[in-house]
Amino acid sequence: MATTDKTESTARAAWLRKELNRHGYAYHVLDAPTIPDAEYDKLFRELQALEEAHPELVRDDSPTQRVGGAPLGQFEQVTHTVPMLSLGNGFEDEDIVAFDRRVREGLEDKGLPPGEEVEYSTELKFDGLAINLRYEDGLLVQAATRGDGATGENVTANIRTVYDIPLRLHTEHPPKVVDIRGEVLMFKADFAKMNARQRDAGLKEFANPRNAAAGSLRQLDSRVTAQRALRFFAYGIGSLEGAAMPATHSDLLDWYGTLGVNVCKERAIVRGADGLLSFFRQIGQKRPHLPYEIDGVVYKVNRLEQQATLGFVSRAPRFALAHKFPAEEAMTLLLGIEVQVGRTGAITPVARLAPVFVGGVTVTNATLHNEDEVRRKDIRIGDTVIVRRAGDVIPEVLGCVAEMRPADAAEFVMPTVCPICGSAIVRTEDEAVARCSGGWVKCSAQRKGSLLHFVSRRAMDVEGLGDQLVEQLVDKNVVTTAADLYSKLDLTSLATLDRMAEKSAQNVLKALEKSKTTTLARFIYALGIRHVGESTAKELARHFGNLDAVLHASEAQLLEVADIGPVVAQSLKAYFADPLNVELVAQLRAAGIVWPEQESENRPKPLLGKTFVLTGTLPNLTRDQAAQMIEEQGGKVSGSVSKKTSYVVAGEEAGSKLAKAEELGVPVLDEHGLHRLLADVRTDVTH
Ligand code: IVH
Repeated sequence: MATTDKTESTARAAWLRKELNRHGYAYHVLDAPTIPDAEYDKLFRELQALEEAHPELVRDDSPTQRVGGAPLGQFEQVTHTVPMLSLGNGFEDEDIVAFDRRVREGLEDKGLPPGEEVEYSTELKFDGLAINLRYEDGLLVQAATRGDGATGENVTANIRTVYDIPLRLHTEHPPKVVDIRGEVLMFKADFAKMNARQRDAGLKEFANPRNAAAGSLRQLDSRVTAQRALRFFAYGIGSLEGAAMPATHSDLLDWYGTLGVNVCKERAIVRGADGLLSFFRQIGQKRPHLPYEIDGVVYKVNRLEQQATLGFVSRAPRFALAHKFPAEEAMTLLLGIEVQVGRTGAITPVARLAPVFVGGVTVTNATLHNEDEVRRKDIRIGDTVIVRRAGDVIPEVLGCVAEMRPADAAEFVMPTVCPICGSAIVRTEDEAVARCSGGWVKCSAQRKGSLLHFVSRRAMDVEGLGDQLVEQLVDKNVVTTAADLYSKLDLTSLATLDRMAEKSAQNVLKALEKSKTTTLARFIYALGIRHVGESTAKELARHFGNLDAVLHASEAQLLEVADIGPVVAQSLKAYFADPLNVELVAQLRAAGIVWPEQESENRPKPLLGKTFVLTGTLPNLTRDQAAQMIEEQGGKVSGSVSKKTSYVVAGEEAGSKLAKAEELGVPVLDEHGLHRLLADVRTDVTH
């Protein structure tokens, strides 16, 4: 009896391990869950209970062994069997052309026909930490950091907590030994979540995902690492025994894929310098949308035989090159802190910096967000600070380098009066932001901000009316309110402005005229009522159908609108209770601004009550176009997937939202499916 019991338990434990590892791989690596979370947890608990009752059943590749164990006193040193090298860097196109030439010349000596282009495997340069994973007979036996390249630290206990990394390779015939090399990193979203948790717990925040990944991996207590969502991408190899080395680098990565090891999909096989540069530009475009940070791309000669021919120079391979993006973070001196006044009077502290080249441009100003952020990050004038400028995002100060603080560094003091209009600056208890109390009547900064918002692309969309023009119009008192744009501007008044040729003046007038035909939602949004963003404006327009109804709605009626809570309702009431605002709206309508009235009440809205989430890139439609098509039929577009989501529309590179939809059983449509659904509902209505 006891033996049968034992045999059954052993078999059951083995089955559970296999199942759980399979589902874990589908979830973490393939991003395509195969069973609901609750079901996974049930199986996991069963295995845990079995192993507790029969400790001899615990195996190194059991998913229960990923949760972290007793803290270490220190990390052991590990000598790498094959040293872990670094890469040479290139920045400019010429560097890449020169690299390709060197490679070609190196190979021509060894039989590459002159003029023949070299084949490269191109991939991403992940911004994390290099790691060596040693598998023996398929089992993960050791993980080590790169260290100085010759010796690193043994971080096996921590690496076991990384779900991306298989504890056992997915193959019946594993090599005797294989050193799989790659990068451990933290996804941007996980980084944000982790920092939020650190903040709530009053702990130190990390400056960027790279530091967070490094800090997490170098924890002596692996239970802490287990709490941090780390990921892994394989990109190289050290030792290999008991299996044939693939012929090319791309084959190597494909092989890793079959072993259950995560490899990045953003890679290509290209030829010559042109191929390399075109990959670089393509990834540059994608970079802001990637869920993790990269600091460049890596080019590797694809044929391993050719790699061996080229060999190494000092500590870097001749066959590979990192093509780096301009750094997005840099250090510089904080010379002073000034404040800026936004359209709602919000006061933003702005850092004046010693000029620094970051993200491809020279930056002298960066936002510090608000007073609390300055305190929390303990940033003082005179500090050396870390500035970040990523893509087109406004540069920001991430933090300071405490060790470099001079003795006379000064704390920031929030001014008590508005630097523009002299009105008092007030900050209510429940708000993070201090505001100028002058309103747009007194404060020209607020007037400028409101006007710029009014004419912006997603509001009234007046082309050609930019910062500099608005600045002049306000400073010269030509325009005070949005209504003045329509009543006070003509060729004569515009001609008084600097750098305004007659042609541009005509264009501005034309654009203003064109903007008069708009939608109710755009008009409401353009008013710049606090807490009324684009989606709230759309809800209001849809719910009430006409402006008068919005204007006269009681707080209780406003609260009936989807997404509107007490804060927004009160803000709307307060806005329309102000006679100046009522007058502004009347003037704008008198100026001839029109939109299709009553639209929402008359037209059938077959998708009313249905919520859609858009994720990934659709082949033909932009996100805005897809959203508009859904909204026209009464549907709502939301940012996050929940049980209430009716459909997820997924395009290429859809990530966690798609996984969530599948987990919750929410129907998923592709672009074609969306078109079909819309066509169906339209027909249902007409028939
Ligand atoms: S290959 C012999 N490939 O960059 C070549 N490295 O400067 C060894 N890295 O320490 C490295 N992404 O941490 C390679 N796709 C990639 C990479 C990559 C990031 C890092 C790695 C290494 C450093 C080399």
